[in-house]
Amino acid sequence: MSDKFKGIYDKSIKNPEEFWQEASNEIFWFKKPTKILNKSNPPFYKWFEDGITNTCYNALDVHIDQGRGKNIALIFDSPITGNKSQFTFEELRSKVSIFAGALRAQGVNKGERVIIYMPMIPEAVIAMLACGRIGAIHSVVFGGFASSELASRINDSKAKILITASCGFEPGRKIEYKPLVDQAIKIASHKIDKVILFQRKGHEAKLNSLNEISWDQAISNAQQVDCVEMNSNEFSYILYTSGTTGIPKGIVRDIGGHIVALKWTMKNIYNINSDDVWWSASDIGWIVGHSYIVYAPLFKGCTTLLYEGKPVGTPDAGAFWKIIENYKVKSMFTAPTALRAIKKEDPEGKLLRKYDLSKFKSLFLAGERADPDTIKWAENLLNVPIIDHWWQTETGWAISSNCTGIEMMKTKYGSAYKAVPGYDVKIIKPNKIAAKPNEMGDIVVKLPLPPGTFPTLWNADQRYRDNYMFNYQGYYETYDSGYMDEDGYIWIMSRTDDVINVAGHRLSTGAIEEVLSEHQSVAECAVLGISDKLKGQIPIGLVVLKAGVDKDHETISKECVQMVRDKIGPVAAFKITIVIKRLPKTRSGKILRGIIRKIADKEEYKMPATIDDPAILNEIKNDLIKNNILKN
Ligand code: COA
Ligand code: AMP
Repeated sequence: MSDKFKGIYDKSIKNPEEFWQEASNEIFWFKKPTKILNKSNPPFYKWFEDGITNTCYNALDVHIDQGRGKNIALIFDSPITGNKSQFTFEELRSKVSIFAGALRAQGVNKGERVIIYMPMIPEAVIAMLACGRIGAIHSVVFGGFASSELASRINDSKAKILITASCGFEPGRKIEYKPLVDQAIKIASHKIDKVILFQRKGHEAKLNSLNEISWDQAISNAQQVDCVEMNSNEFSYILYTSGTTGIPKGIVRDIGGHIVALKWTMKNIYNINSDDVWWSASDIGWIVGHSYIVYAPLFKGCTTLLYEGKPVGTPDAGAFWKIIENYKVKSMFTAPTALRAIKKEDPEGKLLRKYDLSKFKSLFLAGERADPDTIKWAENLLNVPIIDHWWQTETGWAISSNCTGIEMMKTKYGSAYKAVPGYDVKIIKPNKIAAKPNEMGDIVVKLPLPPGTFPTLWNADQRYRDNYMFNYQGYYETYDSGYMDEDGYIWIMSRTDDVINVAGHRLSTGAIEEVLSEHQSVAECAVLGISDKLKGQIPIGLVVLKAGVDKDHETISKECVQMVRDKIGPVAAFKITIVIKRLPKTRSGKILRGIIRKIADKEEYKMPATIDDPAILNEIKNDLIKNNILKN
């Protein structure tokens, strides 16, 4: 480790208050904080508690105040529809402040919740920032989730307004949002006051009741509104993420800490200045989209790109490189699965070579483990650093990375680099003893977490404490396991809970099991994530039928797949259900999911001493072979 990074990192750990106070000087405050960190009620920490600020002011107004209002804030490019547009900071502020006025006219006040269920269009960003402007708390729901997932978020957040659009587009398929919203509203027990729907040109949806208005109607008489003053510890958003059960966890973000931390990361991690173009090819429904399509780049005052397209098929595997050339992108962020999809279609980079990528300086990856083959492939073709960095919805920004704005680190393929300033990462073995270098264990972070991470869960302080802060007192449990080598590089190996990562999307196998158990023929089931060359992992379901069921297995499998698609959504990428005779269990009745996964992935496993009947493992193996999951 060289001195510059080490000095900064050590300071952040030894004296976090001084470190983050300095960073807090870089943002706009209506009233600067004098109390930097309140540690009086662990594990609930408060950053900048007497500071007064506003998210939207820091994303837009501050840059206009500084004379950069004519700079481009947002570029929209949709290869799916052919639409393109650009907005300066002034133009974006004008649209945001009118829509904020429209929300206020609909009775949305500070602290009230607004659900945003929208495709990747500028209005989604405008809606998010408008919430920030008036102090409303947004909760964005990814478009690939089905009605019941949307309904559970409506219920938990008790949202007042739902903002949507007439449709989104997936390659070869139009997603009509209105029927999905109608169904969610029907099944939700909490009743929202109003739906505001953005009509996409040529694809308008029919509005039925008085409670539904179009975006244009909503803004027709609206007044522009200014940013409200918000206490640093009020919430800016809730983003629901998968936990171990079907009940999603509402990750909340505060206001001051969020702005301070994200602005700090743009220069220090990503080496982005305010005159650069930055692109995060994610979706606003995920944390990467929140932090790095919308907030961090706008806090920094650089140009951010919103892309309604895919890495392949819109129209081809050169789509990413075309965007980089067209807009002179300096750095981008995507998921390894996107690179794997491109690699599969254009392994030799023939399409890539058509474009001028001379302005492109680095590519960041996260969301799942980046396999060394893919990193090396991209490195060879792009000739820029390909940086795997590790983070979670909970933290909102990277826990470990190559901090390229401080100092370029050496790459160790398969590792997600070192802990970022602010994170005191430790590896602890199951016996609660600290692991030695290169020894596997649970990855934890010493409390307090840095600013911009999650201060609690929405309306669930106890769940926050029990779920994350209980097993390792004084630490945040990441639920990732791995090791740290002698140079401090972190190697993320796997999740320790039921969460799987499918094409960079975080899913709960427990939630899928809950759906399968509702099938009337299913007695019990297990869902596990098995390795997939493109998506990293895919879920498969194993179901045991109730006695006496004589329906054919193929029909049952198809019904199970459809149920998951209807209840969780297409994003679950759930396509395989196998009917089996029995599930392997311990004598105490615990299903041995880990062992089944190892069999499916052809990994070595130890026969557990507590297994009820070892013969079942052979049965499962044969079932997996019969269903082409496992090659003989
Ligand atoms: N709205 C509705 N449906 C959606 C959707 C959305 N916003 N996003 C995905 N889906 C659907 C897809 O159409 C697909 O449906 P299908 O089963 O009918 O084909 C299903 O959900 C699964 O999608 P996905 O897992 O994304 O697979 P894919 O085969 O469509 O695409 C990739 C594969 C690799 C191209 C794609 O997953 C990708 O670009 N991944 C990047 C992930 C990412 O950005 N993650 C964010 C963290 S950085
Ligand atoms: P999400 O909350 O959707 O961002 O998912 C977080 C989870 O994704 C982490 O807990 C990890 O399991 C996984 N993940 C994210 N980034 C990486 C990475 N660089 N390497 C390995 N796993 C990762």
